[in-house]
Amino acid sequence: MKIIRTKDYKDMSRKAANIISAQVILKPDSVLGLATGSTPIGTYSQLAEWNQKGDCDFSHVSTYNLDEYRGLTHSDPQSYHYFMRVNFFDKINIDLANTHVPDGANPDAQAACSHYDQIVREAGYPDLQLLGIGRNGHIGFNEPDDHFSKGTHCVDLTESTIEANSRLFEKKEDVPRQAYTMGVQTIMYARMVLILASGPEKAQAVYDMCYGPIAPSCPASILQLHQNCIVMADEAALSKCPAAE
Ligand code: GLP
Repeated sequence: MKIIRTKDYKDMSRKAANIISAQVILKPDSVLGLATGSTPIGTYSQLAEWNQKGDCDFSHVSTYNLDEYRGLTHSDPQSYHYFMRVNFFDKINIDLANTHVPDGANPDAQAACSHYDQIVREAGYPDLQLLGIGRNGHIGFNEPDDHFSKGTHCVDLTESTIEANSRLFEKKEDVPRQAYTMGVQTIMYARMVLILASGPEKAQAVYDMCYGPIAPSCPASILQLHQNCIVMADEAALSKCPAAE
């Protein structure tokens, strides 16, 4: 793992956007694995700004998002389909036909998940996988468990995740209890992983990811085994980690 310490959220977002932009410049038809949550929003808006200036062309890029709430339609403002349109896809010159998010509107979990695995596999897996990290160390919606997951699957969200994500809903009862998420094995197949973390509430998860045992109780800890993983985190998120990083 390469840990890059940034001053704050803005610095993290800009540096992350630089890495993604470099990937797209080097390989215009890159396959990008994308994430939702508050953390990547600054990265997306920086990339959109560069795209509008003509500096970062997404016209040949294809994207595969990590996860989606089960039971929400694509136009539901709480869905990750909607999130990606509003925060990124509608601001850049990507062909929407090349963007993919698990189909949370399909009640048939088995069909939705195996279809997603198939299209990610056919795309050759991401060149670069962007990730955030949950307060409990989850990646995508791979929650702490007694084993690491493999392909896309349906998960029951933990109370801690429902609590954390309820800030984005009117009330906690509105947070869906299940989601479809890419598995840990699929994430590990990405040729580069860029995981972002900002703020003190992520400090313990970042410490466990980078220095704890590699264990499914902290799903992000598996990234210690990835050959090309960059942890891009601000001072607050790295506050529990050794100062040398
Ligand atoms: C959500 C998403 C994750 C995200 C995480 C952190 O549950 N499924 O992909 O990384 O929570 O979110 P945030 O960036 O808002 O802290």
